[in-house]
Amino acid sequence: MLDAEARERVIVALDCDREEALSLADALSGHAKWLKVGMTLYYAEGPQIVEIFKLLGFKVFLDLKFHDIPHQVQGAAASAVEAGADMITMHAVGGVPMMQAAQAAVDESGTEADTLAITVLTSMNEETLAQTGVSRGVGEQVRALAACAQEAGLSGVVASPQEAAMLRELLGPDALIVTPGVRPVGAALGDQSRVATPAAAISAGASHLVIGRPITRAADPVAAFEEIAAELD
Ligand code: C5P
Repeated sequence: MLDAEARERVIVALDCDREEALSLADALSGHAKWLKVGMTLYYAEGPQIVEIFKLLGFKVFLDLKFHDIPHQVQGAAASAVEAGADMITMHAVGGVPMMQAAQAAVDESGTEADTLAITVLTSMNEETLAQTGVSRGVGEQVRALAACAQEAGLSGVVASPQEAAMLRELLGPDALIVTPGVRPVGAALGDQSRVATPAAAISAGASHLVIGRPITRAADPVAAFEEIAAELD
């Protein structure tokens, strides 16, 4: 993999407050290409935080996991890409028409933003899934919802590294498969349990890796990022 391509594949998750996020963005500028903004930072700071990262030259993965009626999600997707998001997320359980509405908003925006579906949150298991009325297993549910996302014309899915190979086979070579739960060899697991190394996640079929604490909490975040990118190279 070329150096530039390896850098494109690592999305740094900034799950922190504004001050720390800005200081990390400043340090990572020129090294990382992608930053992930989640609900915590976005609901505190609003679209301005996306605009700031864009001005610093980053691509922004805005992970707000939309789930509402199609009209509302269409508006949310339009606002997200208007703010500059290059990748947005939504819950596939919102249904095919909801996902189509989000895709329509992106298409109408004239941007190249990518759309990703969340299938089953990795915080869920068979038991919590059953409580929501879904009696089939997690794997089957992931597969069915990924097929819905594909039918709706989305760019891809967010998935655990364990699901990446199955999803790559199902969705084909062009789909985006973005995997969190990635830990370089020897890194602290934190609250992640089912993890893969960056290289293993890519060979399983992931197109992008979401990596937070192994980079953001490192004594030297730039060195940690560079080490991970080099592992992919
Ligand atoms: O710090 P860490 O590398 O665990 O961060 C992973 C990021 O990916 C966090 O922003 C977390 O919310 C997100 N994520 C995850 N597992 C999922 C989906 C998203 O850890 N299944």
